[in-house]
Amino acid sequence: MKQSERLAKLPVYVFALLDKLKAEARAQGKDLIDLTIGSPSHLPPKEAIDAQTKALKDPACHKYSSFEGDPAFIAAVIDWCKNQYNIDIKKDEVVILVGSKEGLAHFYLAYLNPGDTILVPMPIYPSHFRAPLLVGGVTEIMPTDEKNNFLPDLDKIDTKVADRAKIITLTYPTNPTAAVAPKEFFAKAVQFAKKHDLILIHDFAYAELYFEGKKPVSCLSIPGAKDVCIEFHSLSKTFGMAGWRLGFAVGNAALVGSLKSIKTNLDYGPFGATVKAGIAALKVKGSYLKKMRAGYQKKRDIVVEGLNCLGWKLKKPQATFYLWVPVPKGFTSMSFVEHLMDKTGVVVSPGTGFGDSGEGFVRFALVESDEKIKETVSRLKKAGIRYNG
Ligand SMILES: Cc1ncc(COP(=O)(O)O)c(C=O)c1O
Repeated sequence: MKQSERLAKLPVYVFALLDKLKAEARAQGKDLIDLTIGSPSHLPPKEAIDAQTKALKDPACHKYSSFEGDPAFIAAVIDWCKNQYNIDIKKDEVVILVGSKEGLAHFYLAYLNPGDTILVPMPIYPSHFRAPLLVGGVTEIMPTDEKNNFLPDLDKIDTKVADRAKIITLTYPTNPTAAVAPKEFFAKAVQFAKKHDLILIHDFAYAELYFEGKKPVSCLSIPGAKDVCIEFHSLSKTFGMAGWRLGFAVGNAALVGSLKSIKTNLDYGPFGATVKAGIAALKVKGSYLKKMRAGYQKKRDIVVEGLNCLGWKLKKPQATFYLWVPVPKGFTSMSFVEHLMDKTGVVVSPGTGFGDSGEGFVRFALVESDEKIKETVSRLKKAGIRYNG
């Protein structure tokens, strides 16, 4: 049976290869510490679990959800956006999602025709360059690296390419590099999007995962951003609810409306009881979030300080639970992943999974218990792993 061209043409998914390697190692009895997938280690707030449990007994929650979304969830999103990011959102500027990945992937169906160009920074969360390909889009890569703080140089983008493009995607704090963007960058990006008649997608999945009080900026906090921008939020990372599948997008009403229209053809929205849990989560007090951040900051410090004792010169990231780590000389991303797994049982993601420019790097996702995080460092030490770059 011949697959559709859109599926057959997708490049190899590095993480599927990694899954195979992990399964083989486990079958051989290897004790793995899995730092590959960014699935949070913190638990959802008690309020969310209690709300879900209660809602399970409510017959209404077992019916199809409404396309417009639970009004109480929409109201909770509006309050959350005001309290957390000081942005004013109206009811018709919110769409509820089955996780932000779902919304991001389906958004392209509403705006990209085959052959249309989308500007995407790299390295980046793979969905941002793979999902546009599924609808026949053409990705124009905006390179980023440590020298430019992983911010694309918008002035260097060929005017013809920018004029031809329909969408520009940004995501700060960034998976996999943990980069953050200052407000001035977003202001410039909004101006750029307006000048070239682009839709600006901002993926804000790691909005709440920041350290030392350096709060990331919502793109929608830039005056006039709502003319061009749709911003995707996720309850997965903020509230440790990755498996629950709940997110939302806010911003330009026409963009939000188009995504809603697409979704009416594809799903009925998240499970009603999950939505009730989301409402409860969005109302939790700041102490939950403070504790969550402190937990990842501790893990970050253990691994950064540990790797730096082994020859690396890593800076402590200001956000996310990722570390973007150069591989020692003589290795590729993938060969270092295999070497590390073989010698220590620690599994990390090859940088190439986040685009070609990820070659030479691996990503550590610090989403294991503190004990395992400490053990990661001691296993590397014991195995004589060192950075020689
Ligand atoms: C940058 C980024 N955006 C979106 C997602 C997907 O999040 P969700 O669970 O809301 O679909 C992820 C998941 O790792 C991510 O890293």
